Amino acid sequence: MDGPLTILGIESSCDDTAAAILHQPIVGDAEILASVVHGQTDLHAPFGGVVPEIAARAHAEKVDLCVEEALLAANVSLKDVDAIAVTAGPGLIGGVISGVMCAKGLSASLNIPLIGVNHLAGHALTPRLTDQVAFPYLMLLVSGGHCQFLTAHGPEEFSRLGGTIDDAPGEAFDKTARLLGLPQPGGPAVQAEAAKGDPKRFRFPRPLLDRPGCDMSFSGLKTALLRQRDAIVTEKGGLPMQDRADMCAGFQAAVVDVLAEKTRRALDIYLAENPSEPLLAVAGGVAANTAIRAELETVCAHKSVAFTAPPLALCTDNAAMIAYAGLERYRTGARDGMDLSARPRWPLDQTAPALLGSGKKGAKA
Ligand code: KG4
Ligand code: ZN
Repeated sequence: MDGPLTILGIESSCDDTAAAILHQPIVGDAEILASVVHGQTDLHAPFGGVVPEIAARAHAEKVDLCVEEALLAANVSLKDVDAIAVTAGPGLIGGVISGVMCAKGLSASLNIPLIGVNHLAGHALTPRLTDQVAFPYLMLLVSGGHCQFLTAHGPEEFSRLGGTIDDAPGEAFDKTARLLGLPQPGGPAVQAEAAKGDPKRFRFPRPLLDRPGCDMSFSGLKTALLRQRDAIVTEKGGLPMQDRADMCAGFQAAVVDVLAEKTRRALDIYLAENPSEPLLAVAGGVAANTAIRAELETVCAHKSVAFTAPPLALCTDNAAMIAYAGLERYRTGARDGMDLSARPRWPLDQTAPALLGSGKKGAKA
């Protein structure tokens, strides 16, 4: 368990098929030897969202190829692989099954350990892979499918401080883009428009700020935006470019304000546990947003808390994070058998009340 380790990671829980090879010399920094991601954006584009059946079929077709590509890029052969880590949930079940079946086949034929990984743990442990961050740290996971604050106490020990009760912020960015005729994925497009707009002209709601705690809500924002758009179109017969930019700026400002205030509250809860070197890490595709990132850095600076965000390729879905989370589980002695099941819903904090509804990734976890 303490020797050098080469681990293969497989990810297929949403619309990216990915494989990665990680090597950890003895105990210490792990090195990413290869990380391959095949996205499915083009396949789903005509439908305006991820279609689970199409995703599952594409994962089943691509997963072996991804593994081969990763081995080739890492210059590693299958017999050099010591263990296989695979996302076993939460996510779209057909995709998760494709990855789990591939991993089981490899594990059985090579006679090496199989480690099932929670996709959210993959995101949440990434700051340890990239920055060797020590437990306990506060994590804000903010993507197209997820939005939650977690205190990471150990490789499999997380407490959820709060999360979205409806849409994830990435979903809100994507829906905003759709409403305003901007391309998908919506985040980068809305951010670019917002840069040209006046964030004060339209005042969109900041949901749940009047309620205590760290839970968030983003679906009302989209409805307010739709109403504003329709009012402009009725009045002007169309949506002028500047109005669109101002709406994007107003929308982004609302998301920034909500995330900043809820982060302040989450930090207060986390800081009450007295971590000696407090740190907030943010991951997920929305962490690419420069306005959100800058505001979170400011919030942390005011509370003398360190801030980190993994490089973008490791913020969004990838298999290096799954290999790393598998490696941490492997080092604790955890192993899974052929009865490892694929789970659509798998909250990281088993004691927290379930989040209701479903998003881009299927059921909320
Ligand atoms: O983590 P990710 O690749 O996949 C999911 O797990 O969902 O995140 C993708 C999400 C999309 O909703 C996309 O619009 C959003 O992240 N995103 C952004 C930005 N870049 C990507 N949202 C806001 N600003 C950005 N610059
Ligand atoms: Zn993810």
